[in-house]
Amino acid sequence: MAEDQHYYPGLEGVVAGETRLSYIDGEAGELVIGGYPLAELAGNATYEETLFLLYEDRLPDADELEAFRDDLAGRRTVDGAVLDVLREAAETGCDAMEALRMGAAAADIGGDGDDRETAKRMVAVLPTVVAAYHRFAEGEAFVEPRADLRHTANYLYMLTGTEPDEAAVRGVETYLNTVIDHGFNASTFTARTIVSTESDIVSAVTGAVGALKGPLHGGAPGPVLDMLLDIDASGDVERWLRERLESGERLMGFGHRVYRARDPRAAVLSTAAREFFDASDEGQAFFETVRSVEDTAVSLLEEYEPDRALETNVEFYTATLLYGAGVPRGLFSASFAVARVGGWTAHALEQLEDNRLIRPRSRYVGERRREWTPADAR
Ligand code: ACO
Repeated sequence: MAEDQHYYPGLEGVVAGETRLSYIDGEAGELVIGGYPLAELAGNATYEETLFLLYEDRLPDADELEAFRDDLAGRRTVDGAVLDVLREAAETGCDAMEALRMGAAAADIGGDGDDRETAKRMVAVLPTVVAAYHRFAEGEAFVEPRADLRHTANYLYMLTGTEPDEAAVRGVETYLNTVIDHGFNASTFTARTIVSTESDIVSAVTGAVGALKGPLHGGAPGPVLDMLLDIDASGDVERWLRERLESGERLMGFGHRVYRARDPRAAVLSTAAREFFDASDEGQAFFETVRSVEDTAVSLLEEYEPDRALETNVEFYTATLLYGAGVPRGLFSASFAVARVGGWTAHALEQLEDNRLIRPRSRYVGERRREWTPADAR
């Protein structure tokens, strides 16, 4: 049979599977999670409710929610050996995503291998791994998780050792819900590919962390914050942005493989982020700069790349919101993983419901008739 030689670089536009977890309309800038439009869900749901929705395809009733919360809360602790690895990672200068990759791989030591139990375990434990790394990197003692706090509140509590206020919890929870799932993005597709070999959920999550780490995927919000702070200090938004574009640099927080409109997550996160900055004059001024950077960048990108609709992506307001909520810059990508692990595990379970090995073809572009020459004759 002749090979189909049609090739889409980066699999752009290729439909590689079916999912009921999230729907994206890139042209209209629309995102639906578990059947709910993003704006309907993100600011209302707790993270536990959104996760239950992804796993069960419906929202829990009050009793189910309480049981699910308790179930997750009981899976938060990590083994001493994992803490040792994270301490070593912090002390030798690994960044948070490197530490998370190590922590995720080791987090389920002694687990029973049941897919659904492992999925919940990975969601519950990733915040502990990130927070432990952070505490060690700061030269502070590890803060044990507290089972009486909700998932998001407990994450923030483990970072600082202080119970967070409700505004910080709501803001960060809106973020976790907003980015929990997003179709076949690179890290989710990685997770699905791994379980499609009948490997395991821990491997899927560990591989997904690796895929998320890159600056073209989850590594962008740190550089976005650097850009915003630098522009704020420079006082000249347009000149700063134009100089970067003139030197051929990409503006972090703009452009997307699927969206040709403003990323719908940017709208939700922008509203949530504003809450943190409205309280003070200084905050309001910073938020004004953020808005001005967005408007100026979008119009300059139109000028420099007229053929590609480059709009604000999720990372632009992720950086703004997490900065406003007091999450350290070095933990932005790791916090993205803390949210997205819900999507990764839901996709892994969905893949396993009706599994078929993911194994695409490649188009060969090398030589075919080379003749062997011994080493001493080359
Ligand atoms: N700034 C300047 N130019 C850009 C940008 C940008 N942010 N994004 C794309 N372009 C340009 C490219 O240089 C390219 O121009 P060319 O055709 O003249 O070479 C054209 O637009 C098309 O870009 P592609 O790389 O083909 O677009 P792709 O779909 O592969 O990339 C991506 C999407 C990786 C997100 C890209 O827009 C980018 O690098 N953005 C900056 C990094 C970023 O914000 N990443 C977070 C993404 S959101 C997420 O993963 C959760």
